[in-house]
Amino acid sequence: MDRWARFNFQPVLPIGTDGTRVTGGRAHIELSRTAATEGMVLLKNENNTLPLASGKRVALFGKACVDYVKGGGGSGDVTTAYVRSLLEGMERKEQEGKTSLLPALGKFYRENVKEQYARGTAPGMITEPELPKELLQQAKAFTDTAIITICRFSGEGWDRIVASEKKKKSKNGGTNDTDMIERGKNLFERGDFYLSDEEQAMVDTVREAFSKVIVVLNVGGMVDTSWFKDKKEISAVLMAWQGGIEGGLAMADILCGDANPSGKLTDTFADSLEAYPSTETFHESEEYVEYTEDIYVGYRYFDTIPGAAKKINYPFGFGLSYTKFEITPTKFIKQENQVLVQVVVTNIGTVAGKEVVQLYVSAPQGKLGKPMKELKAFAKTRLLQAGEAQTLVLSVAVSSLASYDDSGKISKSAYVLEQGMYEFYVGNSSAELQMLTDRLIIAEDRVVLQLEEHCAPFMLKKRMLADGTYEELESYTGVPTDLSYEKEAVGAYTPAVPAQARRKMPWEGQEKGPDWRLIDVAEGKVTMDTFLEQLSVEELVGLLGGQPGTGVANTFGMGNNKTYGIPNVMTADGPAGLRIAGECGVNTTAWPCATLLACTFNEALVEEVGQAGAKEVKENNIGVWLTPAINIHRSPLCGRNFEYYSEDPLVAGKMAAAMIRGIQSQQIAASMKHFACNNKETNRTNSDSRVSERALREIYLKGFELAVKEADPWTIMTSYNIINGHRSSENRELLTGILRGEWGFRGMVTTDWWTNGEHYKEIKAGNDVKMACGYTDRVMAAYEKGEITKAEIISCAKRVLEMILKLQ
Ligand code: BGC
Repeated sequence: MDRWARFNFQPVLPIGTDGTRVTGGRAHIELSRTAATEGMVLLKNENNTLPLASGKRVALFGKACVDYVKGGGGSGDVTTAYVRSLLEGMERKEQEGKTSLLPALGKFYRENVKEQYARGTAPGMITEPELPKELLQQAKAFTDTAIITICRFSGEGWDRIVASEKKKKSKNGGTNDTDMIERGKNLFERGDFYLSDEEQAMVDTVREAFSKVIVVLNVGGMVDTSWFKDKKEISAVLMAWQGGIEGGLAMADILCGDANPSGKLTDTFADSLEAYPSTETFHESEEYVEYTEDIYVGYRYFDTIPGAAKKINYPFGFGLSYTKFEITPTKFIKQENQVLVQVVVTNIGTVAGKEVVQLYVSAPQGKLGKPMKELKAFAKTRLLQAGEAQTLVLSVAVSSLASYDDSGKISKSAYVLEQGMYEFYVGNSSAELQMLTDRLIIAEDRVVLQLEEHCAPFMLKKRMLADGTYEELESYTGVPTDLSYEKEAVGAYTPAVPAQARRKMPWEGQEKGPDWRLIDVAEGKVTMDTFLEQLSVEELVGLLGGQPGTGVANTFGMGNNKTYGIPNVMTADGPAGLRIAGECGVNTTAWPCATLLACTFNEALVEEVGQAGAKEVKENNIGVWLTPAINIHRSPLCGRNFEYYSEDPLVAGKMAAAMIRGIQSQQIAASMKHFACNNKETNRTNSDSRVSERALREIYLKGFELAVKEADPWTIMTSYNIINGHRSSENRELLTGILRGEWGFRGMVTTDWWTNGEHYKEIKAGNDVKMACGYTDRVMAAYEKGEITKAEIISCAKRVLEMILKLQ
């Protein structure tokens, strides 16, 4: 096939090796299920309640055993041919003789859920029905073991609420999904972090009636765990997350022992929503969010701030297995720029399993103050048979132990290694660690990297210190930026740049076409610069806005100038899978939600998922996959946490890098998003994330930095929100200063879809394409007035074309 023929002509050509379609195919669905089993986390397993003994009778309670939530809503949702619930999973196991179920219970929940769905609602957003007494009696007579399933749903454009929010009206109907917010308020009296009254009643009834209760959580983010942690009757708990298309089968695999769980939490599960420092002010304003907890996010907060550790129910990195492992550190090698720690992991239990070794470093408090410890490396074993051992080597770059000094306590705007002792810990959770006897001593304060101030705050009054007190920030001015100028740009819906006729080439019937077409650049016949010289300023600007959709794509394209042979390259969402609108009739594979994938701690597996997902993207003639999404889980309340990986930037960055490698191995562009600080959905297009430069660099930008340096994503999507008074998409310090200047990013940047930014200012900042449409007229007006130069326009256009050249 000719280069870019897929994008130009949309031929429906399967790419499977034997000529079959890969999209939504068996092999991908099986990979999705395997990944799901590997990322589910076993939180509790008293007296080896799990796995269920072969043939064990169980009673399934909770409408969630049918009302299965495969993933969240919005752009992180996909159209699948079907989904498999836990009930279906257990029925399969019953057919295989591995368990035995009470049919009347399944029938009750199936009918109830069907009836509630018929009234029109989203999965997970229906009421827990009251359990009929006779059914409970039948179940009690049938077995002593109950399985309770609880599910949750959240999505793009709305956040999870807290009880005090119930009465408030959402102010910004335009970008907030008020319908879902209202539904949530009606279903969950205390906010959906906690059980609803109806769920609590069901749980209490089941707890009283059965001696063994197993809980399965089908959720996309942090939820309350205090209702089972210390409750004796609840003997086992599986954090099953939202497991994609066949998540219910994966849950059953684990419950029945066909798979041994090896997932580890990528977030800290605290004893209440209020225990997270971000909760108190999360909903304070729709206009801004103040990141006053600074770098103390997740376990960095709970492990460091006095008194907070006792609020942890399940620590970061935690997850049980059906077997046991011994982790023995065997070598500590100090090299000039890195430290290598070798460990031997031995399976000392009776069944095969995998273990995740985590390496944390505790830096001296020094002048800057530090988290008690930080994850610096991790590695997962292969499947180890009982008695088998594996040696793993974890490496830590010495420079990664430095902290960013944004206030000049040691050296302003520099990463500094403070003098003192750096202690190393290894283990299988942030709470189960052994300290190594070897340490790293830094004799005197050392500047590792001198940078410049970028994206500094001026509306953040204070930030938390390691002892839990706050320091006032001198940079506070109290004068907000005026962002009113772009009001006129808001509200466009369809791409503004006219499509060129798709079939008819514009030069047909003319005497002569252009000297060079893009294919000539691809084939080395002409340089990019010479090629670009042919285009008028207006034609160049046309390349800097989104283009009309073709084929099955519903998030529009980029490129699209037939005169010069520039294809209209389509985009599609991620991260849940290839997202194609239902009416197109193309079902795709729903991968487990991103948080589950991260909980696998298995980079090779995540890479495989990226590769498989990208094949579906390519088969459907799309060139840019809008994934991975890697914002930090700052608060359990963010409605899109299911699309993101972790509270920890190392995990987020490593998982993103693996995903990007997988995707781009198929010559499909990954679009890492949302850059940056999109940690809240409410009024996301106009909310100002006020955050210190240190927290930006050490927490919120760090994952992006790691992935840029490790995996070279071909595109990055800026976020809707404002960062310290400047929109991400118009933020030159962020895009040109940090992303390109400091990290050496070579790819292309797009806005998020329909941003409120002013197009010419986005171009000047280094945001190459305004999606999903550009405003050529406004950019040309700015050009005519001398506000923007041709050179600035060319730089962006060149990066768009260089991205297209990488696609095949
Ligand atoms: C979302 C992005 C998504 C884009 C295209 C936006 O609303 O924030 O994550 O990729 O739409 O669907």
